[in-house]
Amino acid sequence: MRVTLETPDRRGSDSLKWGKYAGQEVLPLWVADMDFAAPPCVIAALQRRLAHGVLGYGVVSKSLEETVVRYLQDAYGWAVRAEWLVWLPGLVTGLNVVCRMSEGGVLTQTPVYPPFLSAPVHSARALTRVPLAFRNNGWQMDFPALEAAMRAAGGNAPKTLLLCHPHNPVGRAWTREELATLADFSVRHDLLVCSDEIHCDLLLEEKRSHLPFARLSEETERRSVTLMAPSKTFNIPGLGCAFAVIPDAALRRRFMGAMAGIVPHVNVLGLVACEAALKEGGAWRETLLSVLRQNRDRLETAVAALPGVSMTRVEATYLAWLDVRALGLAHPVRYFEEHGLGFSDGAEFDAPGWLRCNFGCAPEMLENAISRFARAVKMLRAA
Ligand SMILES: Cc1ncc(COP(=O)(O)O)c(C=O)c1O
Repeated sequence: MRVTLETPDRRGSDSLKWGKYAGQEVLPLWVADMDFAAPPCVIAALQRRLAHGVLGYGVVSKSLEETVVRYLQDAYGWAVRAEWLVWLPGLVTGLNVVCRMSEGGVLTQTPVYPPFLSAPVHSARALTRVPLAFRNNGWQMDFPALEAAMRAAGGNAPKTLLLCHPHNPVGRAWTREELATLADFSVRHDLLVCSDEIHCDLLLEEKRSHLPFARLSEETERRSVTLMAPSKTFNIPGLGCAFAVIPDAALRRRFMGAMAGIVPHVNVLGLVACEAALKEGGAWRETLLSVLRQNRDRLETAVAALPGVSMTRVEATYLAWLDVRALGLAHPVRYFEEHGLGFSDGAEFDAPGWLRCNFGCAPEMLENAISRFARAVKMLRAA
């Protein structure tokens, strides 16, 4: 089946991403949604559901549960039971629920997607940040630093680790070896691991496949909450549908206890879209990945030619993490906005001087963004 990606004009729509710069000549390359229309199979399923006309309270159908169970088996070889699934209106909700149920402080590796930093604060849990190591031109987990942080915390050592896998913003897809070392660390320190795997179907390295942290062993399964959703892969984050996989019954009860009274049911359209995407969205996703790979490669080549700017290989996600510190800008985001580019500010990820660039857009728009970027960087050199 031939699939094409549609990129309707989003200006003047209800888009958060585009609305930020309404009426300005700024290309939005910030918040993580893509400019591609959802897969036709998802649109068709939503239209069928809407044609029914009644939009009352919904339930998670048996067929949706079976679809997820089959998907996790086929995609990652992970044998999951339907009762392990807890449905959520979003992953950020899941991160916050985990912090709320944490019996102590929370550990996370920076730079990281901002809700990893705010969720512990919302639940008044102490947050321990351990920077990822930048070595051999790549990002790695810093295990000696993680150990040192646990030692330094003494009797107040964190009880929960928030893992971003693949990692936003550095674009790493953690390897089996890295995950196994992390698993060993989490067992020795008796940590609950919340693994945010929202980007797991966006692996851009063709020979790699996603390994859920929980899938490593019975031990990791027992101590983990895995958060997943069709929202990033199929570009439907506005439909608010996600799920946690929590194999351990006691942990699941604690998680659901922390949700009680504050987390609403998933809306009926989100559930319908999720089922259609997971069942029928495979061909669309393959096309998406080929476009994202091209965009990633194009951006990487362009950045390599620019003095004072660098990026590492994006193994997964559609987000590039740009080091612009050598440009010496006091306000990098503002400077590039003045030159027509709307990036995410690294400071929000605990890394001032860095920018996050969303390349989930039409190749033509990326080309335009690259020209503007090159011009803006060269102007600095000329000044
Ligand atoms: C790592 C990560 N987790 C969670 C989210 C957002 O999840 P949700 O919209 O389901 O709350 C994002 C969005 O960019 C993300 O990158």
